[in-house]
Amino acid sequence: MSITDLLNNAPEQEPERQYYFIAEAKKIIAKKEAELGRKLTCCVTTFGCQMNARDSEKLLGVLKEIGYVETENENADFVIYNTCTVRENANNKVYGHLGILHGYKKKNKDMMIGLCGCMMQEPTVIEHLKANYRFVDLIFGTHNLYKFAELFTTALLNKKGMIIDIWKDTDKIVENLPISRKYPFKSGVNISFGCNNFCTYCIVPYVRGRERSRKPEDIVNEIKGLVADGVVEVMLLGQNVNSYGVGLEEKTTFAELLKMVNDIEGLERIRFMTPHPKDLSDELIEAMATLPKVCHHMHLPLQSGSTEILKKMNRRYTKEHYLGLVEKLRARIPDVAITTDIIVGFPGETEEDFLETMDVVDKVHYDSAFTFIYSKRTGTPAAAMDNQVPEDVVKDRFDRLLALVQKHGHDKVKALEGTVQKVLVEDVNEQDSSLVSGKLANNVTVHFPGDESLIGKLVDVRLNCCKGFYFIGEQV
Ligand code: 5AD
Ligand code: SF4
Repeated sequence: MSITDLLNNAPEQEPERQYYFIAEAKKIIAKKEAELGRKLTCCVTTFGCQMNARDSEKLLGVLKEIGYVETENENADFVIYNTCTVRENANNKVYGHLGILHGYKKKNKDMMIGLCGCMMQEPTVIEHLKANYRFVDLIFGTHNLYKFAELFTTALLNKKGMIIDIWKDTDKIVENLPISRKYPFKSGVNISFGCNNFCTYCIVPYVRGRERSRKPEDIVNEIKGLVADGVVEVMLLGQNVNSYGVGLEEKTTFAELLKMVNDIEGLERIRFMTPHPKDLSDELIEAMATLPKVCHHMHLPLQSGSTEILKKMNRRYTKEHYLGLVEKLRARIPDVAITTDIIVGFPGETEEDFLETMDVVDKVHYDSAFTFIYSKRTGTPAAAMDNQVPEDVVKDRFDRLLALVQKHGHDKVKALEGTVQKVLVEDVNEQDSSLVSGKLANNVTVHFPGDESLIGKLVDVRLNCCKGFYFIGEQV
């Protein structure tokens, strides 16, 4: 069938339209398999955050339905990079990898290469790809990922040239598309998409668009389906989970959503990511304190401890407000694990500003922290700010910060030594098959003697020996 015929015959309605393209692509792939006398392979490579990881599961779900077999080897018949652009080095990694893919493609004339995700939402990236990477077959962005089956089928029939489809924004959420989960027992679940906060360093609002929430009943139904399929832990995902509910016909707060999810029978653990300190409500703290399935773990991005810098970052809280939140959290939930994200070297950051960050870190004593060197993102307000901090100064601050957060992380882990905690078993240990590995509610890893039958189970484990950032334990 020609591309025109295919598009003319396709149903308008979603997701039916995508299932139609899946069925058509399946026929083409079956023919190819018969010609080659083997199955076709696909490789989905993810860069960036948990949102992207979840999106990649959606890509893989479609590819498997079409008839591809998954492989981790990038020398495959179809390779797609789901890209990130939050920091410059994420972009550089993609360009580096593409060179390798070109080599594979020269040896496999049937090979197709796709690119999607946040980096594709940047016009300069698309121009660069068009000029220098003509061997890429398919490019699309974050807003039309639900159309992957359609775009892929079009690329499959399009013998030459790139298919490029990038949307500026969307208000559409398409439910019930195929998904292939990485883990049988745990899953990410999107609750909202996009971000309206416009922190001045951050490119996310430009590449992920305006914030929109899924309906609570769609979320609950998805989780019920996951639980029926063996999932015991969900991670609720949103760029700013606290503002969940924005734009819904019937306003639902994030805490109310947590209650609904907590009521799902068979589900054991609920995590979420990421709350914004400016919107952290007492209602949410109360929900974490009282709902038994919600893990006592709050990832609360600080970004900077200097009120002055926070203002320039458009974070809309002060150092004191943040410390107040931590105090409130610890008072209500004494065993809460608090983790964070911190940026070093934001434009205009002085030594005094940096010491304010160190002061907050010292006061909070984080369980762990992701520390980042500020990366200039073209198009964000911070990129045009004066006083960009010299590289050597940033590096020195970064090293001092990292040493401090690592010391605290170590202390926090060590404090649990000898206690009995619930562990969700994830895997047989790669190095030693007599051990299994799992995670505590605070996300710390534990290894202990056990076998495959424990995978996906929550078991009580005594944390016998702290090995820095993980434990060796025994089941009790
Ligand atoms: N430079 C460095 N780090 C950044 N982040 C977001 N934008 C930038 C940037 N331009 C960090 C923030 C955010 C995390 C996901 O990435 O700390 O919380
Ligand atoms: Fe970026 Fe700020 Fe939105 Fe987080 S809240 S995605 S840091 S703009």
